[in-house]
Amino acid sequence: MLKEQVLELLAHNRASYLSGQAIAAYCGVSRTAVWKAIQQLEGDGVSVTAKTHAGYRLAADVLTPYDVALPAEVSLFFYESIDSTNTQAKRLLAEGLQGEALLVANEQTAGRGRCGRSFYSPKDTGIYYSYIFHPAQALSDAVLITTAAAVSVVRAIERTTALKPSIKWVNDVYLGDKKVCGILTEAVSDFESGTVESVIVGIGINFNTSTFPAALEKTAGSLQAQGVTRAALLQAAVEELRRVVADVKNPAILEDYRAHSLVLGKKVTFLKNGQAFCGTAVGIEPGGALQVQTESGLQSLSSGEISVRLND
Ligand code: BTN
Repeated sequence: MLKEQVLELLAHNRASYLSGQAIAAYCGVSRTAVWKAIQQLEGDGVSVTAKTHAGYRLAADVLTPYDVALPAEVSLFFYESIDSTNTQAKRLLAEGLQGEALLVANEQTAGRGRCGRSFYSPKDTGIYYSYIFHPAQALSDAVLITTAAAVSVVRAIERTTALKPSIKWVNDVYLGDKKVCGILTEAVSDFESGTVESVIVGIGINFNTSTFPAALEKTAGSLQAQGVTRAALLQAAVEELRRVVADVKNPAILEDYRAHSLVLGKKVTFLKNGQAFCGTAVGIEPGGALQVQTESGLQSLSSGEISVRLND
């Protein structure tokens, strides 16, 4: 389709304007056809900047399907807008999707977070993606994917920016005292064999979101990184994610997780079996559980939420 050809051309020539004539010549069509294709892209939600006597180029940081390079065996699904890439991944699996797949969206209208919360996913300012793996592992090993996913994000941020992110157990990524990334891992399992058929790792990174809804204002932040595009960070993050998941039992991953931990040594409070506990986070177990020294002894927390006092 012409609009896809034009989008690919614009994505590969982000630095300069391309004249309608040049695009028309490259695609072997008329300038009117190019103009129509640009209108269609705009209609799809793709922001294209047009300049008189110069031509067209993609608006500053538009993410396109041509920005991520994947191995041939991985399918790419790209959405300008979708309810939730995790929900869509589940739909694709239910329809019989085979193999690994990456789903990316420029906007989510019903982004989902952990514990039934929503994830604020405004257009063009964040990186929202879900990766479908088929790990063929016991459920207990698949749980490690959650911690590994957090490591993949901090590694990607450190690879592409000068920022120093940290991880709040279990898998929120922070910059200073603000959450900049959330991860929702969902498993489709076969209870008879005890194996996980598919794991959907959904990751949302606030890249340059500048305003948040009132309820998130105090806790949410964004990377606001200079000199890196959403496309470059997405590419690095997907590469790191595939790398850690392929080697999920490698002790170096947990070491990296511990090294980036925002909670170790800090006072935390949490609920376990309906009881409130308070203590000091003292360790991360090989399975990813958090160890908390409380007055009544050592507690091991394998799931749930903790609240941490960051200024102690
Ligand atoms: C959390 O912070 O509680 C987890 C947030 C996970 C958000 C990502 S964005 C891509 C994927 N699709 C969703 O609906 N959620 C995840």
